[in-house]
Amino acid sequence: MNDRDVEVLGRAPLFEALDEEGARALRATVAEVHLSRGQTLFSEDQEGDRLYVILEGKIKLTRTAPDGRENLLSVLGPSEMFGELSLFDPRPRTASAIAVTEGRLAALGHTDLWPFLKGHPEIGVHLLRALAQRLRRTNEIMADLVFTDVPGRVAKALLDLAERFGQPTETGLHVHHDLTQEELAQLVGASRETVNKALADFAQRGWLRIEARAVQVLDIERLRKRSR
Ligand code: CMP
Repeated sequence: MNDRDVEVLGRAPLFEALDEEGARALRATVAEVHLSRGQTLFSEDQEGDRLYVILEGKIKLTRTAPDGRENLLSVLGPSEMFGELSLFDPRPRTASAIAVTEGRLAALGHTDLWPFLKGHPEIGVHLLRALAQRLRRTNEIMADLVFTDVPGRVAKALLDLAERFGQPTETGLHVHHDLTQEELAQLVGASRETVNKALADFAQRGWLRIEARAVQVLDIERLRKRSR
């Protein structure tokens, strides 16, 4: 594990509260996992015995309906954690985790984690905060599915991706989300056609420029207004 990995891990909820000695002890239990683009790390309903922190790359969490349609719950990037639900509530995985890009992950086994958490109760507060933030976000998404039109949801999804993956440029914010148009539609919970239409409308208004697996956000304020 290189210095950058240590720094990325240090920003994850599990490590944030630890002093150097605690962090070193927890890092010693980490196994590194490499994924190629499109590779499935685990599937919904499988038994889970470890949680993950992303070191490099992006992971999508998806659920599949009985008729085969996919719902994309979230796209996660470096320092973000997933796979903790089956640690706290030992039941099958609630979603599948698939690599959107090539990636590297730190895997922490549940059997190593439990005794560690008992010895370092300060971690619990950070894990609870991460879970509370996720619940907040999920509630907001649920309300948007009921109350907000598709263009509003597209604007909101883009702002969420911009917050995670946006890089400032001279003309605005470059958001390399790495999602196909189909995946973007699965994230918004609408058809590809409707999502494309909303994106084309935003582009025509000069709020953004559409690129392959990316957008260049040119007017974030207008996008913010449209998301409300
Ligand atoms: P687990 O159920 O072990 O495996 C799938 C993981 O996806 C789950 O733990 C959470 O870490 C993550 N997850 C489940 N639902 C959501 C959600 N709504 N938003 C973000 N992440 C989620």
